[in-house]
Amino acid sequence: PLVPTATVVGAARADGRGAAAFNVIQVEHAQAIVAGAERAGAPVILQLSQNAVRYHGALRPIAAAARAVAELATTPVALHLDHATERSLVEEAVELGFGSVMYDASALPYEENVAATAEVARACHGHDVWVEAELGEIGGKDGVHAPGARTDPGEAAAYVAATGVDGLAVAVGTSHAMLTRDAALDFALITALRDAVPVPLVLHGSSGVADADLTAAVAAGMTKINIATQLNKVFTGAARERLAADPALVDTRKYLGPARDATAAEVARLLGVLRSAPPT
Ligand code: G3H
Ligand code: ZN
Repeated sequence: PLVPTATVVGAARADGRGAAAFNVIQVEHAQAIVAGAERAGAPVILQLSQNAVRYHGALRPIAAAARAVAELATTPVALHLDHATERSLVEEAVELGFGSVMYDASALPYEENVAATAEVARACHGHDVWVEAELGEIGGKDGVHAPGARTDPGEAAAYVAATGVDGLAVAVGTSHAMLTRDAALDFALITALRDAVPVPLVLHGSSGVADADLTAAVAAGMTKINIATQLNKVFTGAARERLAADPALVDTRKYLGPARDATAAEVARLLGVLRSAPPT
């Protein structure tokens, strides 16, 4: 069923489990993520980024598909708007029944980031929508990797108090869209942030993190773990293999189906790495 993001993230944090948030581009992503979560017996978050919305030209069609897939799931599934810089898109997501939004003002100067984010948080809380923000810009979205960015624990605590956000994305050594899984996480900083910040912490750019470090990051205090590129790697790899094996293939189901299956298996595997399943 579709459940509020606050439920998934809150329970994961209380138990020291990871709440995995996987990015959806096509409907096959949503289907694969839910199939993998059902196999792992874990709740999961489907997230749609503003970039993915731009690709589709509108939020409504892909959101409706993702929402329907969530509602049919036998495991709890939440719906999240990822990396939104446009206020109108946040408002539309709230209208469409999303349980949470990330309002990303991390590119703005500190005071402007605080003011804009506080306003979004107030508006969303009126609809019981969970709000994530980012402090200490995590690079890579523009193709320029900046794994050196760091979030200061004292500034993070002040930012959460000033904005009223429910979750905080922090810069601890990752960078978006890495194709190699060799990011060096700053575990001492993760622990310091967990001790200083009263809300769940969010790891972006998690595709660049090795399995063992993902497990360790959750143990050190990261809760919501955002993964996009790793699933695309697996999805496209499987599709490419099918297309290469049969140059006469034209039925899209014949390569998207195997891509979806391979992605579901990777999701189930990653949910194990993140210890996402609640104890039975
Ligand atoms: O918000 C989405 C994530 O931060 C995903 O990043 O593609 O590097 O896994 P990634
Ligand atoms: Zn991100």
